[in-house]
Amino acid sequence: DILGERLNSAGVDLSDPLVIGPLQARLAELAETPWRAEPTFLGEEEGETAPITMPHDLTSTVGTRRDATEQEVDAAFARAELIQPGWDALGGEKRALLLEEAAKLFEDHTDEFLSLCQREAGKTLLDGVAEVREAVDFLRYYASEARRQFEHPLTLPGPTGEENTLCMHGRGVFATISPWNFPLAIFTGMASAALAAGNAVIAKPAEQTPLIAALAVKLCHEAGIPPEALQLLPGAGEVGQLITADPRLAGVAFTGSTETARLINQALAGRDGPIATLIAETGGQNAMIVDSSALPEQVVRDVLASAFQSAGQRCSALRVLYLQDDVADEMLEMIRGGFEALHVGDPALLSTDVGPVIDPDAQAALERHVARRQQNDRTVWRLDLDPSTAKGCFVAPTIIELDSILDLKRENFGPVLHVVRYAAEDLGQVIADINATGYGLTLGLHSRIAATRRFVQARAKVGNFYVNRNQIGAIVESQPFGGEGLSGTGPKAGGPHYLARFATERVTCIDT
Ligand code: SER
Repeated sequence: DILGERLNSAGVDLSDPLVIGPLQARLAELAETPWRAEPTFLGEEEGETAPITMPHDLTSTVGTRRDATEQEVDAAFARAELIQPGWDALGGEKRALLLEEAAKLFEDHTDEFLSLCQREAGKTLLDGVAEVREAVDFLRYYASEARRQFEHPLTLPGPTGEENTLCMHGRGVFATISPWNFPLAIFTGMASAALAAGNAVIAKPAEQTPLIAALAVKLCHEAGIPPEALQLLPGAGEVGQLITADPRLAGVAFTGSTETARLINQALAGRDGPIATLIAETGGQNAMIVDSSALPEQVVRDVLASAFQSAGQRCSALRVLYLQDDVADEMLEMIRGGFEALHVGDPALLSTDVGPVIDPDAQAALERHVARRQQNDRTVWRLDLDPSTAKGCFVAPTIIELDSILDLKRENFGPVLHVVRYAAEDLGQVIADINATGYGLTLGLHSRIAATRRFVQARAKVGNFYVNRNQIGAIVESQPFGGEGLSGTGPKAGGPHYLARFATERVTCIDT
C-alpha cells in the first residue's frame, strides 16, 4: 500500500542507456524464438493450429496457436471441478504467496514478455513496459486482497450467546475471456483475481494473442499454482462458445466488445447449471472536454497521449474531443502541430509513437469509418504513412471534425480522434450527449475552474473521470478501472471490490 507494504512494480527505465542497449540486444535474440500456445492438458485428438503473425509485418510468424478441442474443453472442466474445493480451502494467505511468487517470476521474465508484446501484439516498448508492470501489480494487489478478505472470517454482531461469522469462498469454476489489447495485463488480472478468490480458472486468451498468455500460465505453474487450477484453452470464438455453454461454469470474467458481452450473457442465461456471474468490461465512447481556462501545452500532450498512444487501442482511449469554441481554432492548431510530429511505424524502434493496429479486420473497419466521414464531414486530417508500413496493419492517425458525439454509432478502436466544438453555455448539453451514448468508461476534462469540475463530475455517468491529465493508463489500486452502462458491469479491476464479485459469501450462526 502507499505506506510501503506493497509497492507497484518499478518497470524498466528506457531512458537509461545502460538498460536499453542490453535490452535491445536481448530482444533481437528473442526474435528468433518460436513460441507455441496449446491447451494445458492435451487430449488424444489433435486440435487445429493457426500461425500467429506480427501485426506490423504479416509476413513474419511469431509462433503457433493450437486450439482446444471439444473433448479438451470438457476434460478441463472435469479437472477444474475436482481441484476447486481444495484450492478454495487453501485460504487467502497461501493463495497470496503463490500469486506473489508468480509476480516475481513475471518480473524475472520481463524481456520475454516485452518481446511478445512487441511481436505478437505490435506494442511499442513503452507500452510493453507498462503492460508487464500492470500484470505484476495485479498479481501482487490481488494477493494482498486475498489476504485481507479471504484468510479470516469476518465477525459480525449478535446478541450474547450467538456467534456470527461471514466467510468468502470461490464460486467454483470461473472462465476468463480476455482481449488482445492488453494480452498480458488483462489476461493476468482477470485470471489472478479469480484464483485469489478461490476459483479454478479456465482461461481463454484472445485468438490473436495466445502466446504471451501461454508464457504467463507457464510461469504461474512454475510458481506453484496447480495446472488443474489454471488451465489455458486457446482458440477462436468457437472455444469461447463451448466454455460459456458448459453447465459446470459458475462465472465469467470478460473484457472485450459490448456485443460479445451480450452474447456471453445470453449463453450463460440459456444453459443449465448455476446462475452464473458475469463480470464484463466492454467498450467506450470516451470524451474529453477542454474549456477556455485550460493550459494549451498540457492539453496537446494529454490529447495526443489519450488518443494515439497504443495506436488508440485502449478501451480508455479518447475518441471525441470537445473544444470550447472561443479557443478551438488555437487549440486545434497546436494539437495538429504535435499530431504531425507523431512517428508511425515499427514498434521495435524507440522513435515510434504509433504502432500497428492488431489485424487486417481492425484496419479495414477503421479505414471504412474514415472513408465514410471523408464523404460526410467538414474536415479530416490524416498523416501520411511511410512505405515501410506496407507489410503491416497500419492506420494513419486521423483527426475528424464532427457536430456531435451522437453522430458516432459505434466505438472506433484505433488512432482516430474526433473533434466537436461547443459553446460554454452548452456544457450541460455536452454532458447529456456524452451520457446519451450509453457508454460510461472514461471522461477527461481540462479546466482550471473548480465549479466546472464539480458541474461535470456531478452529471457525467462514467467510471473513470480524469481532470487536467490524460485519460489512459489507470494504475492498479490508485485508479480502479471500469465503466458502467454499455461499458460494463463493474466491479472495477484493480479496486477493493473486485475480488468479492468472484466470490460467494457464507454466513455461520452458532448458538453458543
Ligand atoms: N486499463 C487501461 C487504461 O486505463 C484500459 O484498458 O488505459
